[in-house]
Amino acid sequence: MATERTLSIIKPDATRRNLTGKINAKFEDAGLRIVAQKRIHLTEAQARTFYKVHADRPFYEELCTFMASEPVVVQVLEGDNAIAKNREVMGATNPADADAGTIRAEFAESVGENSVHGSDAPETARDEISYFFSGLELVG
Ligand code: CMP
Repeated sequence: MATERTLSIIKPDATRRNLTGKINAKFEDAGLRIVAQKRIHLTEAQARTFYKVHADRPFYEELCTFMASEPVVVQVLEGDNAIAKNREVMGATNPADADAGTIRAEFAESVGENSVHGSDAPETARDEISYFFSGLELVG
C-alpha cells in the first residue's frame, strides 16, 4: 500500500462545538497520523480561493461564508492510502447518507455544515496541502 498525505479541515460547525479532539481521535484510531496542524480563521477571500472549483455551484456563496465564519483546523494526515482512508472515516458529504460510526454521521449538522473536509484525489491533495502548508511545516 502507498503511503499518502491528504489535507483535512475541521470546519467551523465542529470547532464551535469543541469537537476537534473527538474528530481527530477517529483519524488516529484509523491509523492516520497528523503530521501538520494549525488553527486559523479563514478570510472569505481565502475560502473562495480554496473552494474555487465549486464557484459555479449554487451553494458556493453559502459555503465560503460558512468557512470564514469561525476558526477551522487545517491539518495533513499521513498513512497507507490516506486519501481514501480519510474519506472513509469522514463518511458521505451529506450526513443523511453517511455510514454509522463515521465523523459526518456522528457530528455533522447538514450537508453544508458537515464538520470536515478531505482531499478527493492525489493531485488535489498536493494542491490543497500546499495552499496551507510549506514543506518546512510538514514534520512527519
Ligand atoms: P467538502 O468536502 O468541504 O467539499 C465541498 C463542500 O460543499 C462540501 O464538503 C459541502 O460542505 C458543501 N456542499 C456540497 N453540497 C452542498 C449543498 N447541496 N448545499 C450546501 N453545501 C454543499
